[in-house]
Amino acid sequence: MASMRIACACTRLLRRQNQLKFITGERHKGYEISNQDLNKRNRSLIQGFNPRRAVLYVPASDEKKLKKVSSIRADCIVLDCEDGVAINRKKEARDNIAQYLPDLLQASVSELCVRINSISSGIYKEDCEAVFNGVLPPALMLPKVENWQEIDEFFKYCAPILKRKNSNLMSFIIFIESALGLVNLKEIIESTISYSATSRLRFEGIVFGSDDYCASIGVERSENSIELLYARQKIVAHAKAYNLQAIDMVYINYKDNAGLQAQSIEGSALGFTGKQVIHPSQVPIVQGAFSPSDDRVKWALELIEAFDKHQNEGTGAFNFHGRMIDMPLLKQAKSIVQMTQSLKSTGS
Ligand code: COA
Ligand code: MG
Repeated sequence: MASMRIACACTRLLRRQNQLKFITGERHKGYEISNQDLNKRNRSLIQGFNPRRAVLYVPASDEKKLKKVSSIRADCIVLDCEDGVAINRKKEARDNIAQYLPDLLQASVSELCVRINSISSGIYKEDCEAVFNGVLPPALMLPKVENWQEIDEFFKYCAPILKRKNSNLMSFIIFIESALGLVNLKEIIESTISYSATSRLRFEGIVFGSDDYCASIGVERSENSIELLYARQKIVAHAKAYNLQAIDMVYINYKDNAGLQAQSIEGSALGFTGKQVIHPSQVPIVQGAFSPSDDRVKWALELIEAFDKHQNEGTGAFNFHGRMIDMPLLKQAKSIVQMTQSLKSTGS
């Protein structure tokens, strides 16, 4: 009787452990993330992240727009093979990238990036073949990621090719643009960090694809984007937790500069580090909203100095311009100074 009770208790315990594994997703994981991977990320990203305030799309099938790339000072220009390109012009887009990229790399002041098609499109390998065969772009974007299995498939395909090519490190940015992608975000990030630690692709950011997300949750975009608030905040929180950039949604009314400015300021206030743009006229407005103002930089530098002085005198919290200052505000001030230094080092 006693042994029966023990057997039942063991079964209950095992069932409970399996339930927990299911809840945390462990039973499904095909990747490992170590503290070492996370620490390595912290160091490398703090030392050298390219600020991507304005991320401009150029449909790679459009030669007229490709020819304008070198005259545009965005932080990042995306040569797009995905949704900016009609299905029947994908090949043309790939051929154009191979043809234009070498010269654009010489002439452009912006970082150049290629957005390939999603894993679920079934045509991403054709994009990769075209991109990896020629001169490599400094950055690569993978849209519509929905689960870690897609990341697994992508890295298992790409990593050996880039290794054989002995390529330099390429920045790697993923898109979250569906309810499923949002729900699976932590696993997606952790699997990407894990693969990125041993490959030539350095995971640096997450882009929020708002229009696909609206379609996925079955809503229309409203004036104040209230239906997107949860997704935007979740993406920011996850990006910041793993030292990644968070790039906000597109403002599609590209002739409405006041609306763009308001949405950019809102995105910056939510914690995004940059925003996607579709027209060159949007670039300076977005860059302005995602750059610390001169007053803010002055505040940050003075605060850091005052903090050091008070620490040396043995005071933790102190009064600065009528506000209580302690460690969290010091961190904010340091991140403003760091952002300013990054912008200076890239000549932005
Ligand atoms: N990249 C490079 N050049 C661009 C550009 C872009 N994204 N958008 C516009 N231009 C150029 C135009 O070619 C035009 O050049 P020109 O003065 O030599 O004729 C100039 O800027 C002014 O453009 P404008 O006439 O105002 O716009 P348009 O009607 O040519 O294009 C869009 C409007 C929205 C179709 C265009 O901006 C675009 O294709 N954007 C990207 C869309 C995209 O990629 N979407 C998918 C990701 S969300
Ligand atoms: Mg999209």
